[in-house]
Amino acid sequence: MAETLTITDNRTGKRYEIPIEDGAIRAMDLRRIKVAPEDFGMMTYDPAFMNTAACRSRITFIDGDKGVLLYRGYPIEQLAEHSDFVETAYLILFGELPSSQDLDRWSQDITLHTMLHENIKKFLEGFRYDAHPMGMFLSAVGALSTFYPDAKNIFDADSRRLQMIRLIAKVPGIAAYVYRHNIGRPFVLPDNELSYSGNFLNMLFKMTEPQYRPHPVLERALDVLFILHADHEQNCSTSAMRNIGSSHVDPYSALAGAAAALYGPLHGGANEAVLRMLTEIGSKDNIPAFITRVKAGEGRLMGFGHRVYKSYDPRAKIIKRMADLVFEVTGKSPLLEMALELERIALEDEYFVSRKLYPNVDFYSGLIYQAMGFPLDMFPVLFAIPRTAGWIAQWEEMLMDPEQRIARPRQLYIGSAPRDYVAKDTRR
Ligand code: CMC
Repeated sequence: MAETLTITDNRTGKRYEIPIEDGAIRAMDLRRIKVAPEDFGMMTYDPAFMNTAACRSRITFIDGDKGVLLYRGYPIEQLAEHSDFVETAYLILFGELPSSQDLDRWSQDITLHTMLHENIKKFLEGFRYDAHPMGMFLSAVGALSTFYPDAKNIFDADSRRLQMIRLIAKVPGIAAYVYRHNIGRPFVLPDNELSYSGNFLNMLFKMTEPQYRPHPVLERALDVLFILHADHEQNCSTSAMRNIGSSHVDPYSALAGAAAALYGPLHGGANEAVLRMLTEIGSKDNIPAFITRVKAGEGRLMGFGHRVYKSYDPRAKIIKRMADLVFEVTGKSPLLEMALELERIALEDEYFVSRKLYPNVDFYSGLIYQAMGFPLDMFPVLFAIPRTAGWIAQWEEMLMDPEQRIARPRQLYIGSAPRDYVAKDTRR
């Protein structure tokens, strides 16, 4: 027998059988609940989408209580151990791990699209020397839509695939150019001999040497960080990508909006905020006073807490282990001891325990980025590069879903009743 939810409307005494599918009821079924035929029908009120599924997705699964994260069914721990970012991006986008032939073609396609149009460089040169890299990044990604007007053919599978390749291939270049612009160094061309992450390090850090050779440990660490950040189901920026994309705009414009959502300190800006917080705390002795302030509602412990994870974020566990490998190469971050102490104290404190606040992906990632030589304001950009794969996979899934239409939430209007315009000189 089909599962249903029975609702009795006390206003009318009527009973409604609402079908349950995949553990959810359809909000539109509630519209049958009316007090009169001309009544609009019942709505749900869910600010910040705390309990509303807006799509069906096959891409990423999270069990927030158990700390489980799967891409297309594969545990994040196994991907971080055995895969690389380019392969993981393929998995996220196309649903299966590639055959070695498919992987070769995919890697080659990406390598062949790493070059940026010269005018993108000129565009980036127009920014002030101290422009925030994320502002530059999201502007440049949006500007790409003017370079690829064919991207408007969003219902052409070949065109979509080409834009996916272009985006994944070009975002490291944009990020690297943004960085080089800010420090006043010339742009570095991509090197097709290097891996995706290795080439990114090349475009960032190459000086006068004929060929840049990335340190294998740092190259792998960056690649693992990219795997960990590639997708995270319906978070703020992904929802932005889906919402903007639902208007059928091209993927570059939608991705600029997703990147803007990621920029905020409650989302992808948190890794930058963690380092600023650790620097501000200054020493281990100041941690108890800082925790007291957080508990009093004066600021947040950045890098802690998550809407979905109510246990240790599995990505944070992997990053914490990886930090040791990176620090063996770069030397230990002076902030690491403080981060460890902060975590120890918070995990024993009733305030954090009772609210199930654990370290999230951003708590330790910034320490690694800093040790690798990235300035703080580049951190959100480092998040946006791999998340590009997730954004476009979610965008395509939304476009291909026959149930999706332009996203358009309802509201509960609580403003003024109709009233007549008041002439300026008679207003109080
Ligand atoms: N420090 C102190 N208290 C916190 C924190 C924190 N980091 N996070 C949540 N709380 C408290 C919050 O004050 C509230 O307490 P009360 O019930 O007494 O009012 C309770 O915990 C629930 O918090 P919430 O704000 O309702 O939770 P949310 O699901 O709306 O917010 C969050 C999730 C990630 C925005 C939030 O935990 C936060 O601001 N964390 C710090 C920023 C951060 O690290 N963001 C990165 C998220 S992971 C990367 C990503 O996906 O972007």
